[in-house]
Amino acid sequence: MTTVTATETATRAPSVGTARTRVEGVEKVTGAARYAGEIPFTDLAHGWLALSTVARGRISALDTDAVLAMPGVLAVLDHRNALRLNTDFPSLLGMRPDPTCAVFQHDQVPHRGWPVALVVAETSEQAREAAESLVVHYEPEPHTTDFTAETPDAYALDGVMPALTEKGDIEVELAASAVVLDAEYTTPEEHHNPMEPHAATAVWDEGRLEVVDSNQGATWVGGDLANLFSLDPAAVRVRSEHVGGGFGSKGVRAHQVAAAMAASVLGRPVRVVMTRRQMFTLAGHRSPTVQRIRLGADAEGRLRALEHRALSHTSTVYEFVEPSAGVARVMYDADAHRTENRVVRLDVPSPTFMRAPGEAPGSFALESALDELAVACGLDPIELRLRNDAERGPVSGLPFAGRRLADCFREGARRFGWADRDPRPGTRRDGRWLLGTGTAAASFQAGAAPSTATATAHPDGAFTVRIAAADIGTGARTALTLVAADALGVAPERVRVRIGDSAFGPAMIAGGSMGTRSWSWAVKIAAEELRERLALGADIPAEGITVRSDTTAAIGALAAAERHSFGAQFAEVAVDVGTGEVRVRRMLGIFAAGRIINPLTARNQFLGGMTWGISMALHEEALRDRASGGLIGADLAGYHVATHADVPRIEADWIEDPDPDDPVGIKGIGEIGIVGAAAAVANAVWHATGARHRDLPISPDRVLTAGAPDA
Ligand code: MOS
Repeated sequence: MTTVTATETATRAPSVGTARTRVEGVEKVTGAARYAGEIPFTDLAHGWLALSTVARGRISALDTDAVLAMPGVLAVLDHRNALRLNTDFPSLLGMRPDPTCAVFQHDQVPHRGWPVALVVAETSEQAREAAESLVVHYEPEPHTTDFTAETPDAYALDGVMPALTEKGDIEVELAASAVVLDAEYTTPEEHHNPMEPHAATAVWDEGRLEVVDSNQGATWVGGDLANLFSLDPAAVRVRSEHVGGGFGSKGVRAHQVAAAMAASVLGRPVRVVMTRRQMFTLAGHRSPTVQRIRLGADAEGRLRALEHRALSHTSTVYEFVEPSAGVARVMYDADAHRTENRVVRLDVPSPTFMRAPGEAPGSFALESALDELAVACGLDPIELRLRNDAERGPVSGLPFAGRRLADCFREGARRFGWADRDPRPGTRRDGRWLLGTGTAAASFQAGAAPSTATATAHPDGAFTVRIAAADIGTGARTALTLVAADALGVAPERVRVRIGDSAFGPAMIAGGSMGTRSWSWAVKIAAEELRERLALGADIPAEGITVRSDTTAAIGALAAAERHSFGAQFAEVAVDVGTGEVRVRRMLGIFAAGRIINPLTARNQFLGGMTWGISMALHEEALRDRASGGLIGADLAGYHVATHADVPRIEADWIEDPDPDDPVGIKGIGEIGIVGAAAAVANAVWHATGARHRDLPISPDRVLTAGAPDA
């Protein structure tokens, strides 16, 4: 038996704040880390989803007999034989029920690419062959997938936030303003495309459901599956040890549900993996947006009126709203202030959370509009933002728990060389390239949600921390190791953090940029309490000493405040007005985003978001074919994302901004990197060319159509 006391480690330097490679990095780069689709199971069967080829209608018949006679085929599940599911429970964040993943419950087809059957076979190849041979007969109905600002069917919708906020009289303030801007901005449908496709294996054991999955929250997915299959939550275990990206797309989806259904029919493990193409209809997406912004300012650039109205689409299955107007509720105040999120239901797949939902498209519109207003006011765009830096929440009236936006701009401007900028557009050239620079503000909510964790001291001096966290590539596992090590007062090498298992108890998902903050809180409390127990000189038995924490009460006691991370984005672009090509030459993001746990992986998070901002500004656009109602080129050949050659000198850094109300000082960094990034690029394109791009992506055809300045 070993006794570990705190005194021996009292002078240890903190691990939090030191750069660490991922604790599972060697496993990942050597291939030893197994992902959900490659974990071996005895007697495994493979399911393949068959998706609808019409955009609306009903299934009149399925020719399953022919498919059942094919080699290796074990079963075909469809709406006629599938288990009935319970869908009457609120979805994530306590919102309305989401039946998007409730497959095979009826004969209705709500969009092209809706799952109509699961074919199960001995091998994945046999399942695919059979699923692709399955003839499904439909009674098609007319469908509508066109998304336009003119739609008469749009309506205001509450989501994670209320649909509407209103203060003062917009029309009165606009009429009294010295400078007025009224502009419409659009962003296209965009897709997450995590590198690892969605994959799940389900197995039943005496009424208990076990699922090995790739998701953003094992307890969350387990809870939803328990609800769907009307099980006691304790009868469902979901594991998700390594996750190759999620970005909001990896919750409960058709594949886990279909796998669990098939496993119950066959009495053996069944795996369902999505193909890249299937992910374009089964994994959710970011809705396209149309956003109208009206700004009124006095002669000094102070906002008198701010109106931000956003429209997004949703499916006929589920009301999801992309809350793009929400960003204005945080960023800028005005005497009259109005924001509204509306949706229109179309015959399209259900959209969902996608990295910085709302803020990503919303900041493109709002931060482009601020840039336009700065030009109209004859003010530097940073100066305009500083003059309108909100002191309290523009809508809530609450104080900010830290708002170092101005400091981000000052530090960013210094490092980017903003002071030398000639404000006139179209004045800098490098051969055939027109050069320009642009900037934009960024913000993202900083929240924490209740979580539970355990910390165990072992007799050999090692520690194990267990929490149902998800490391979706962020480095969360490593960050939690550092937090635990400091709380225990030991070297990180002595701490093993185990995550991705619903058996570890309730915990926040990897989402809303709240994961690492929420989990760290629980881990720190459990680890500190364990350290205190050990300091009393306890003998450690073979099974160890375990302490459990639950942050529900502590987080519930947090005072109301506007809690956000902030940032300033800078971009320099070169535009060839002969070919329409836009190249980002350099980019800098400076963030005030709470205490940074691991500078190495934190920088990755920021750079990943900023890279996605470049991608959003210049490349990404899912185009829907009006006739078929499906996407054109739904794969990574047709859907362009930024790749290495598109990403230039790009740097992210941060300033001190510990959250005073968080035990570790964390705010959250997962999403803010993309916020404002596309606007900074678009504003730089304006500065280079004099042409304002209000529609994303800024593709060569749009650059060519917009023309060049007279030079
Ligand atoms: Mo993120 S869109 O909260 O996974």
